[in-house]
Amino acid sequence: MEESILQALATHYQQMRDVPLRALFDRDPGRFARFSLSCPDLLLDYSKNRLTTETLTLLFALARAAGLEQARDGLFAGEICNWTENRPVLHPALRRHSTQPVWVNGRNIMPDIQAERERMRIFSAQFRARALLGSGGKPLTTLVNIGIGGSHLGPEMITQALQPYGASGPEVRFVGNIDGADFQEAVRDLDPAQTLFVIASKTFTTRETLVNAQTARRWLQQGGVAESDLSPHLVAVTAYPERAQTFGVDPERIFAIWEWVGGRYSWCSAIGLSVAVRVGFDHFEQLLAGAQAMDHHFCTAPLEHNMPVILALIGFWNSRFGGAETLAILPYDHSLRRLPAFLQQCDMESNGKRVDRDGQVVTGSTGPIVWGEVGSNAQHSFFQLLHQGTHRVPVDFIGCCRSPYPLEEHHLELMANFFAQSEALMRGRTAAEVEADLRASGLADEEVQRILPHRLFPGNQPSNTLLLSALTPFNLGMLIALYEMKIYVQGVLWRINSFDQWGVELGKSMARQILVESRRLLAGEAVDLSRHDGSTAGLLRCFVAGQVAPPPGALPLDPTRGVAPGPHRGG
Ligand code: F6P
Repeated sequence: MEESILQALATHYQQMRDVPLRALFDRDPGRFARFSLSCPDLLLDYSKNRLTTETLTLLFALARAAGLEQARDGLFAGEICNWTENRPVLHPALRRHSTQPVWVNGRNIMPDIQAERERMRIFSAQFRARALLGSGGKPLTTLVNIGIGGSHLGPEMITQALQPYGASGPEVRFVGNIDGADFQEAVRDLDPAQTLFVIASKTFTTRETLVNAQTARRWLQQGGVAESDLSPHLVAVTAYPERAQTFGVDPERIFAIWEWVGGRYSWCSAIGLSVAVRVGFDHFEQLLAGAQAMDHHFCTAPLEHNMPVILALIGFWNSRFGGAETLAILPYDHSLRRLPAFLQQCDMESNGKRVDRDGQVVTGSTGPIVWGEVGSNAQHSFFQLLHQGTHRVPVDFIGCCRSPYPLEEHHLELMANFFAQSEALMRGRTAAEVEADLRASGLADEEVQRILPHRLFPGNQPSNTLLLSALTPFNLGMLIALYEMKIYVQGVLWRINSFDQWGVELGKSMARQILVESRRLLAGEAVDLSRHDGSTAGLLRCFVAGQVAPPPGALPLDPTRGVAPGPHRGG
């Protein structure tokens, strides 16, 4: 069944592939209305993709044949959707407000979730009221979240996105990178006596986080906080409280998350504590409510009117048949500047897989390479390639009708660019249009012909536009859940496990081994590096020696000129 629908889609694509997008609009004045969908406060316009009603009919049939509705219901019912780790995937339960039970291994998890939410509410309110005191009796005023991946990207992105709601809140900073520069920069101007570190790590084994957490302890001690007085300055969020306790965190200061929350989906758990402290718990709850509204829409709307499903199917269409390898996320909202990074982890760690449920290699590409940057800045860096390069690059444009900042003229200019870019990418500029322009500017025939190819815009870059009424906590919650569910739908289409991440393990274990070898080399011991390839061993030796000595035969650099001298350089 699925095969025959895929075949029908392939045939249909052959009929569609040369139809210019602008022709689809010319033929159908109702295209925008037909191919857009809105919930209150969020509009998805997908009309600037190369598709017709027939395309969608086939894609919906494919989704049904792939068992999407059952898979969706299974996720929300707590079935084992992460089958390589034998776990249910229940981040939607974290944003539910209903008291209906959700069972995991015979235990209703809703009371645990509610209890943890209540602890977050109390803790964030106390912190915001400056009622939590450091060891010396001064109020804690700055929260530094130490975490990486899902224990960092979501809270950081959301805190930035909701800056107008947090402007009067406590200072909140984020340390993720094991590069000491990140920690140093974050604490540069802080007073240890008034600083709280939240060590956010589901596993409490992540090397980056533990190294930064150890450094935080030392920094506190060097700043005058005695070893025995550290606990007011430390909080942990983890699924392994005993590990946090061993580290020295007071059990009363450990917030729970659970194995059934994937790291990249954990912003809606206590991993979001930094968000609640910054913007206040009521706003955090609105964020959850927005996500829940999108979950509800996903669960109840027919596939034909279901935003995450439509977004997922379009992505599948553009990649499987349109040959697109990437997806550009372009938020035209400075507050959403970390959204591309957040979605990179969410999508690429979820769907960057090559084998299906049965261990068979998937046909075609799976998850796209997600990248992006905030508009309008991006227009002055990589948009040239989108307009005239050789790659097919689907884009998601994200913008808001209203800005919370009072510079209205800026918002108008920003949004003019937002609408112009998706139109330009779709329409392009034909030879006839370019020629008419060049002639009108008075160029001679010969010059017109010479310049013309350089001024052509092929157009036909597919894009979705997500237009929010405003970037409120509720709307942001909807937007995040929209992408989360879209990613799940695509995983179902490819029959892959969107909830494990075995691919991150190999590099981690090799780094552990290289760390041991580097230490031994630095201590002057003889280390056999023959298990490494020549490149890695050579680089490691250079690093340990602290010199990037040129390999034999390399051209020496002339420090006075900055270029290698030699007869072949001429001049
Ligand atoms: O290495 C990848 C990863 O496991 C992510 O999936 C996760 O979000 C991140 O590391 C951090 O993990 P933890 O919260 O357990 O420290």
